[in-house]
Amino acid sequence: MKDVSQNKNENIVWHNNKVSYEDRCKVLGQKGVVVWFTGLSGSGKSTVAVELEKMLNEAGKAVYLLDGDNIRCGINSDLGFSDEDRNENIRRISEIAALFQDAGIITLVSFISPFRKMRQFARERAGEGNFIEVYVNTDFETCMERDPKGLYKKQIKNFTGKDSSYEEPLNPEIVLDTVKYSPVECAKQVYELVVKGML
Ligand code: ADX
Repeated sequence: MKDVSQNKNENIVWHNNKVSYEDRCKVLGQKGVVVWFTGLSGSGKSTVAVELEKMLNEAGKAVYLLDGDNIRCGINSDLGFSDEDRNENIRRISEIAALFQDAGIITLVSFISPFRKMRQFARERAGEGNFIEVYVNTDFETCMERDPKGLYKKQIKNFTGKDSSYEEPLNPEIVLDTVKYSPVECAKQVYELVVKGML
């Protein structure tokens, strides 16, 4: 992993290892990749990611899912839903995903990640070619009808799609239609793309 640190302290010195990314990939028999799911709350991101994780695991791949709600219970438990906190949420997760990618893991990331700037940051940290942006394109009305966590009913302040914005991806690697296709079918579509990138 290259040192692209933003650290302002002149006494921090990047340390090089003796085991390279290629060495790690050789042991695992795969490449590291970040599969970044983005979409509204209730769009189906996590449901599809969970199916994809199972598929890849059963295919003998080293895979790990970083999920918004779970990560917000731990390392990001100090963050709320202001634009600033969402940016910090995604900044930290981008760094974590980049580390997992560098470890050679297929890293699935499921966060609303509403802002283009931060998704671009995540792409750059993972490295172009190691990043698959998956846009779970489920419209607001459908998400509101599904309301799997009962949050749309609650009239929460700064809710994405209501009074907090969601910037649609402009050039995602893949767009999923969760109205037309089941979670397993959507996961298969992403699986094909991930496996193609491994060849
Ligand atoms: S992000 O915008 O910072 O990427 P993240 O994916 O971590 O969001 O968390 C979104 C989840 O938090 C939603 O699926 C929902 O369960 C919950 N949540 C709580 N408050 C909000 C809110 N104001 N807007 C969107 N989701 C919220």
